[in-house]
Amino acid sequence: MKNNTPKKIARQSAIKLGAISLITSIMVLIAIGSLDYWFYAIALGVVIEEISYFVIYRAIEDFINQRIKILYKTISKIKGSADPVINMDEDVIGKVNQDVMDWASEQIEEITILRETDSFRKDFIGNLAHELKTPLFNIQGFVMTLIEGGADDPEIRDKFLKKAEKNIDRMTGLLEDLDSIYKIESGRMSIDLHPTNIIDLCSDIIDSLQKKAEKSNVTLSISDKEPFTVLCDVNKIEQVVSNLLVNSINYGKDGGQSRVKFFDMGDKVLIEVSDDGIGIKKKDLMRIYERFYRVDKSRSRNAGGSGLGLAIVKHIIEAHGQNIHVRSTYGKGTTFSFTLQKISTEVDNLTLS
Ligand SMILES: Nc1ncnc2c1ncn2[C@@H]1O[C@H](COP(=O)(O)OP(=O)(O)OP(=O)(O)O)[C@@H](O)[C@H]1O
Ligand SMILES: [Mg+2]
Repeated sequence: MKNNTPKKIARQSAIKLGAISLITSIMVLIAIGSLDYWFYAIALGVVIEEISYFVIYRAIEDFINQRIKILYKTISKIKGSADPVINMDEDVIGKVNQDVMDWASEQIEEITILRETDSFRKDFIGNLAHELKTPLFNIQGFVMTLIEGGADDPEIRDKFLKKAEKNIDRMTGLLEDLDSIYKIESGRMSIDLHPTNIIDLCSDIIDSLQKKAEKSNVTLSISDKEPFTVLCDVNKIEQVVSNLLVNSINYGKDGGQSRVKFFDMGDKVLIEVSDDGIGIKKKDLMRIYERFYRVDKSRSRNAGGSGLGLAIVKHIIEAHGQNIHVRSTYGKGTTFSFTLQKISTEVDNLTLS
């Protein structure tokens, strides 16, 4: 609802007082039989109207200075803005109402963000403690068994030392992932772009994962098209492809297939890593890039996963200014695809080097 401006309020009140004075004066003149002096009544009415306007205007201005300016100063102290300027020709009450409402909703937004950050931090610390506790307790158990006599039997000793080593690897992997996340999120990750043959890079990764794939009875393959040279940070993209392939093995099916394919998209190359494994339900699909998020916790933990892999993958792809996309059918399989900038001519290579 629109309110009157302070000036209008003062003027309307003054006119009313002037009119009352005029009517009273005319009635007095009629009573004493001197209606000929009617113009004095008008003059008095006008004078009273003007004086009233001046007095009322000043009173409103004082009120505004004392109350509303203090209110504005309180808001602006928090907002960090300058001294308020109040225009007496404006709807001051309406404006102050709107500004206070805006300020309040801003405060609510800030409080909500703070709460979210706080719960995010608590979740992160909770998840981290949990992830570190599991392998650490395992190691503690194996070492205790060895101390309590297990070390005397060479077979038990070797078995428990191997198990301890596996858990140490898991902790090391987790700490390395955390280090990557920390570097990425604090803006300390530098992307070192170089022309790279992406097909050769993916072939090498597949070779290094062959043993792991055989253990899970998954076949890894690559579509061998003409070589694509892309602009990327080799180590980081190796981390991406390797994370996606390890996932395709860990969440693949016995006797399943994992493929890497390349598609020419003009100035970009689309790289696809697909499997015919367990797939991901729609409700989980939108959360898989969250840190520590795992769909099937027991399966993922058996695979040694802590739920950081895809968070790192997404960060790396975005740091390259590119996108990653996932599509999946539960029970049928999953395909991750991401793009990289292509460099096709020797001129590009020369410009870069
Ligand atoms: N190819 C896939 N098929 C089915 N589920 C998948 C696939 N890739 C990822 N997921 C699901 O998404 C979750 C998150 O994956 P992510 O790689 O981030 O973590 P992780 O594999 O559990 O652990 P790590 O940090 O060791 O990679 C997995 O736990 C798994 O449930
Ligand atoms: Mg993973």
